[in-house]
Amino acid sequence: DWTNESVIDEQVELIRARVGTKKVICGLSGGVDSSVAAALVHKAIGDQLTCVFVDHGLLRQDERVQVEKDYVDSIGVRLVTVDAREQFLSQLAGVTDPEEKRKIIGREFIRTFESAAADLVLEAQEGDGEEIAFLVQGTLYPDVVESGGGSGTANIKSHHNVGGLPDDIQFQLIEPLRALFKDEVRAIGRELGVPEVIVSRQPFPGPGLGIRIIGEVTEERLNILRKADAIAREELTKAGLDGEIWQCPVVLLADVRSVGVQGDGRTYGHPVVLRPVSSEDAMTADWTRIPYDVLSVISNRITNEVDDINRVVLDVTSKPPGTIEWE
Ligand code: XMP
Repeated sequence: DWTNESVIDEQVELIRARVGTKKVICGLSGGVDSSVAAALVHKAIGDQLTCVFVDHGLLRQDERVQVEKDYVDSIGVRLVTVDAREQFLSQLAGVTDPEEKRKIIGREFIRTFESAAADLVLEAQEGDGEEIAFLVQGTLYPDVVESGGGSGTANIKSHHNVGGLPDDIQFQLIEPLRALFKDEVRAIGRELGVPEVIVSRQPFPGPGLGIRIIGEVTEERLNILRKADAIAREELTKAGLDGEIWQCPVVLLADVRSVGVQGDGRTYGHPVVLRPVSSEDAMTADWTRIPYDVLSVISNRITNEVDDINRVVLDVTSKPPGTIEWE
C-alpha cells in the first residue's frame, strides 16, 4: 500500500542500485520539485550528489538564502552556487520583447549550468576518478503527460526548465518524481525534512521575475518588484489563503506611470498588478476572489513601503483568455 515512506524507500533502493559508486549532479532552482528530487537522491547516495544553484538575479526575496542556508542545513547536501547576476542583467539590457527575454534567460541558464557541470566533471576526474554519470531532474507526472501530449502551450510561450540538458555532456537522467503529483511531492518533501518555505512554495517560472517586469529588466526594477512580491506573499500567507491560491504573480508595469498623492506631495510612480489565480494544473485558471480586506492591506502596505509604486491593481481575467504570467 501507498505511503510516503514506502515511496521514499522504494526510490532510495532504485537510485542506489542504478548509481552504484558513480556521481550525480542536480540543478536546484529553489522550487519544490528540484528541491524534493535532490533531497530524495541525497538520502540515497549522500555526497555522491552535488547540486548546482544558478543565481540569475531574477529570484524572489530571500530565495537564495533559503536554498543556500535553510535547505543545505536541513538536507546536508553539497551545493555549488553560481552567481550569474551580472551576466543575465547585461544580456537582458535593452530587451523588452517577452519571447526574446525568455530565449535569452533560457540560453544563459543552460550555458551557465553547462559550464558549472563541466567544472564538476573535471574536478571529479582529477579527484577520485569516479565519473559524473547522472543528472537529477524534478520531472512530475503532469510534466510527463504534457510533453508527451504536445498540448500546445509551447507555442504560446517558450517555457524554460531548470536542468535543460547540455547536448555534449552525456548524462543519464534520474527522475524520481515522475509518477507523482505536486501534492504528493510536497508530502514527500516534508517527510524528507525539506524546509516548509520551500515545500509550500508557489510555482515560480524558470525565467523568474524577468517575465514579471513589463518592459526592460533592470536591477532597480527587480528590487522594486521583489519588495512588492514579498509583501503580497506575506499577507496572503498570513490570511491563510495559500491553499486556495495556486499562485499570485505580482507584475510591475515598469513603463507605465500614474499620478498620485502622498503626504502633501505629488507622486508619479509605477503600478503593480496582483494576479491571484486558482487552478488544478495551470492549464486553465480562474482569478481568486481574495477578500477585500486582504487586498486592502496588501495595497496599503505596498504603496507605503515600496518607493516608486503608487498604485496597486487587480487582474480579474481567467485563463483562457489570459495566461497566468503576463509575458
Ligand atoms: P502561463 O503564463 O503559461 O503559465 O499561464 C502556466 C504556469 O507555468 C508557469 N510558467 C513557467 N514555468 N518555466 C517554468 O518552469 C517557464 O518558462 C514558465 N513560464 C510560465 C507559470 O508560473 C504558471 O504556473
